[in-house]
Amino acid sequence: METKWIALDGWQTEMDGGLEKEQLEGQVSKLKEHPGIVQAAKILQKGGLVAFPTETVYGLGANGLDSEAAGRIYAAKGRPSDNPLILHIASMEELPGIVREIPETAKKLAKRFWPGPLTMIFPKADCVPDGTTGGLATVAVRMPKHPIALALIACAGLPIAAPSANRSGRPSTTTAWHVKEDMDGQIDCIIDGGEVGVGLESTIVDVTGEKPMMLRPGYITKEMLEEAVGEVFLDPVITATQPDPTIKPKAPGMKYRHYAPKAEMLLCEGREQEVAAYINTQTERSQKEGKRVGVLATEQTRAAYRADVVLSVGSREKEESIARHLFQVLREFDEAGVDVIYSECFEEGPLGMAIMNRLRKAAGYRVIQVEESDV
Ligand code: TXA
Ligand code: MG
Repeated sequence: METKWIALDGWQTEMDGGLEKEQLEGQVSKLKEHPGIVQAAKILQKGGLVAFPTETVYGLGANGLDSEAAGRIYAAKGRPSDNPLILHIASMEELPGIVREIPETAKKLAKRFWPGPLTMIFPKADCVPDGTTGGLATVAVRMPKHPIALALIACAGLPIAAPSANRSGRPSTTTAWHVKEDMDGQIDCIIDGGEVGVGLESTIVDVTGEKPMMLRPGYITKEMLEEAVGEVFLDPVITATQPDPTIKPKAPGMKYRHYAPKAEMLLCEGREQEVAAYINTQTERSQKEGKRVGVLATEQTRAAYRADVVLSVGSREKEESIARHLFQVLREFDEAGVDVIYSECFEEGPLGMAIMNRLRKAAGYRVIQVEESDV
């Protein structure tokens, strides 16, 4: 199959800086008339697959009410069929049609964070097929804050099921070129909307229980949620430092090894200078074994390393830049063909939980605590 490429670069949102409601609405109404969007919407209506940008990562969209179309997503990604999809909507009016009930907590969170990088779990309505929810009685719903995504959903007039547009197990995609790398020839269409703003997938909150529970951390932090609705529980798998076979994650996708680069990856936790010294020692050791070594560093630390490939993920003074480039950098290590990657850790800021959750999974939970004595 030939994958159609639709260039719409220049419409992306900047999460930091924020897009005003009126500005966003203006962009969406213009884009709904755009021939590229109209064409992509038609593909979705006919049961095809369209990759499109959102403010978090690129999504691989299909008609969420059509089991067969959803099935094509699983096939294209090589995704296990028990891992349910998120339904994307463009307005609040679409919500009652796909969920059985809208709890008060959900209303508050939607008012505060939609459109935006928040997904909520609801009891599903009968029209949502098992093929979309992996057989669950619940459905995940999100209203993205990206003019292209909103225009595409509105133009198609359908809830759009969309996982991240990567091959299952690979890092999520944050540019259309990454989507092409993973999906070319497997899907009908890619909309190029430039680089995404957030770079990590949405925060997932289950609002079906008595208290809201966070199932996956993202740009919207626990503190931000609690400001809106009071106490929020954390699914223990989010902060797990070791995979625990006795804990079953509530979001089925959280159990899979994910985001993984091809190389073996090790996270090094400790004070900046000690971590750098430790990584340099390990680099030398690995190189002596004939290995090509990568280091995941920051603007502040990149000059301290002597590895074969040193990549800066962003600036420690601007945590959002680390989130935005994390998946891209993991892909770059693959391209550079390194055998082992040593990575710094990023626990400090508000996005620390979300960044470290992805990194720990990418590293298969291999974390080294660097003490002074190790150096
Ligand atoms: O930012 C995002 O959320 C992106 C963009 C494209 O919107 N999408 C995304 O989808 O990250 P995906 O499929 O890669 O991740 C969806 C996660 C999986 O971990 C899945 O198990 C969980 O959401 N999920 C979906 N439906 C669920 C449900 N009914 N109950 C619990 N978890 C659910
Ligand atoms: Mg994914």
